[in-house]
Amino acid sequence: MNLDNLLTITRSYRSFKNQNIPSNILMSLISAARLSASARNSQTLRYTLVSSEEICNKIFPLTAWAGSIEWNPTIEESPTAYILISSLIENPLSQITLGIDIGIAAQNILLKASELNLGGCFIGAFNKKEISNIVELDLDRFNPQLLIALGKPLEKVILIEGNELNLRYYRDTENFKHFVPKLSLENLVLKKF
Ligand SMILES: Cc1cc2nc3c(=O)[nH]c(=O)nc-3n(C[C@H](O)[C@H](O)[C@H](O)COP(=O)(O)O)c2cc1C
Repeated sequence: MNLDNLLTITRSYRSFKNQNIPSNILMSLISAARLSASARNSQTLRYTLVSSEEICNKIFPLTAWAGSIEWNPTIEESPTAYILISSLIENPLSQITLGIDIGIAAQNILLKASELNLGGCFIGAFNKKEISNIVELDLDRFNPQLLIALGKPLEKVILIEGNELNLRYYRDTENFKHFVPKLSLENLVLKKF
């Protein structure tokens, strides 16, 4: 797949088929994260992989979805895997730099998932304490930062032209379609010299 296509299909998917994602697939996503740039090459991120149905079902109620609309995935369409990105508490980076490292690693994971015909969603809104407890994250050493929900997408995500006054995404629930406005290049580029 060419890069433009890969970038276009790498969207936030929130509705999934009931199809297990084995651990070795999650390991290949971490291989992509492993190649990320990191400030000072400090590589302060660590990953917890979840493909067990039992643990997925425990995590799901502790996550919040699509805050801009009145809709939530049901348990039947919930993610079949998760990756929790955590940072070492002892690290030399500022919050902003650490956030950039997390974003790069997370996007590498989602891009690799797309290449494997999977999809996912970054979940910033998750119960850090309870999920850390479920996945036995040692909170004396690690800070849970970002959860990535994963699965085989059941929905279509369609990009539409957006404008600065309204960037709300919306959904055709019955038909499993989710529409995401994106600004045009003219909106994005301030000046050309
Ligand atoms: C840092 C970050 C945190 C996010 N947290 C959530 C979240 O908690 N729940 C959710 O449903 N989507 C979450 N999203 C997904 C955004 O809503 C999504 O990226 C946006 O609607 C644009 O859609 P697209 O990713 O398909 O372009 C998050 C995205 C980012 C980058």
